[in-house]
Amino acid sequence: MLTKKNNLEKLTDSEKGHVSTYSSRYFKEHIPKYELPEKSMPANAAYQLIHDELNMDANPSLNLASFVTTWMEPEGEKIITENLHKNFIDHDEYPQTEVIHNRCVNMLARLFNAPEECKSIGSATIGSSEAIMLGLLAHKWKWKERTKQGAIPNIIFGAEVHVCWEKFARYFDVEMRVIPLEKGQYVIKTEDVEKRIDENTIAVGAILGTTYSGQADPIQEINDLLVKIKKEKGWDIPLHVDAASGGFVAPFTQPDFVWDFRLPQVKSINVSGHKYGLVYPGIGWIIYRDESDFPDELVFKVNYLGGWMPTYTLNFSCNSAFVLAQYYNFLRLGREGYTDIMNNCVSNAQYLAKKLKESGNFEMINEAQMLPIVAVKLKDSIKQYTVYDLSSKLRERGWVIAAYTMPPNAEEVALIRVVVREHFSRDMADILYQDIEHACKALENGERVAKPNGKEKHRPIC
Ligand SMILES: Cc1ncc(COP(=O)(O)O)c(C=O)c1O
Repeated sequence: MLTKKNNLEKLTDSEKGHVSTYSSRYFKEHIPKYELPEKSMPANAAYQLIHDELNMDANPSLNLASFVTTWMEPEGEKIITENLHKNFIDHDEYPQTEVIHNRCVNMLARLFNAPEECKSIGSATIGSSEAIMLGLLAHKWKWKERTKQGAIPNIIFGAEVHVCWEKFARYFDVEMRVIPLEKGQYVIKTEDVEKRIDENTIAVGAILGTTYSGQADPIQEINDLLVKIKKEKGWDIPLHVDAASGGFVAPFTQPDFVWDFRLPQVKSINVSGHKYGLVYPGIGWIIYRDESDFPDELVFKVNYLGGWMPTYTLNFSCNSAFVLAQYYNFLRLGREGYTDIMNNCVSNAQYLAKKLKESGNFEMINEAQMLPIVAVKLKDSIKQYTVYDLSSKLRERGWVIAAYTMPPNAEEVALIRVVVREHFSRDMADILYQDIEHACKALENGERVAKPNGKEKHRPIC
């Protein structure tokens, strides 16, 4: 006669539906990690194994190293989950998604003050990296149209750019003319741009809110230089503004600050929807001032799923969810909502910066930040510990705070950076401040911490 125990053992795992997930055998065996398992497992066991393993990750809300959105409203999340299964590229099948995409492009072109007489175009991308590469690729093709055969294209930008600028130059075979920084000078100078320009410069890059210091390059001054060069030498060199973070901050916190299509040489702008656009990753946008800034040769018309469809992104398939979530935020927040959120972020960043400055341990590296971030260095008098020690110590409380050195030639300056996002309240700023105070005291008293990888990072996380 079968006992109750024997009966249970004869059942498959899915038949043992009443048995608790944790009592199944999957929790007392090693699961395959590097080879596709031979056998299936019940959905609840697979879910729980992965879910529990991911508890090893940091808490995204305490991850203040990243600019990327970690909180959305439940209604925004609902739009995402309802549309994860729609391939964005299937415009024939999901025409309304494409209509909404075009609305977002229009809203952004207007937010960036595209002149009414221009026919601005643009596209959603996976993030600013793809957007920057697309923007620069368009400028490279435009340069090709106007240049002599055999010339070598070059691009000018500062050492404080995101790595995607260097990727573009290397992947698409363009000579980089990088302007080095120096201690105390963390954005480029217009005179250094002027020294590097020639007729084969495909574009100049300027940043609205650098990853390193949150400052803006002198965009207006560079534009004026390019206008002068166009007049004097006939070289029509485009300015691409990398507004990855600043593009959703400056229009709301400093609407009179001129950095966008109000400047005639600004021909393209990228912005990350998944940073201060307040959407989960990954969504970015590339906006061109006018359709004439985008070469026809880069538009592919593909016959896909029953219709002719133009495509000019580097990727093809991706889900529609984040485009639609961006539109949700646009409708839901409007200018009013974005302005209130960005002003709160700036105010909380200023509050924390002031407290850190007053603590006597830190120095601000600049006062005029474009972004709601707090980037500070330890005072030179502090010798017992480094920003890396401090960042590691704060990890004990769950905070993830970036520690990094400035790019060449200012590598001697090491910083910690707190990116203030919408969920970081004044009370959280107080808790973080107290934890920083305690961490500094502990380190002063000789408490050491293990460095995460034993290595100091050069680039900040973004
Ligand atoms: C100034 C700047 N440009 C480009 C990027 C790349 O953006 P994404 O992560 O959206 O590709 C970042 C990322 O932080 C950035 O800060």
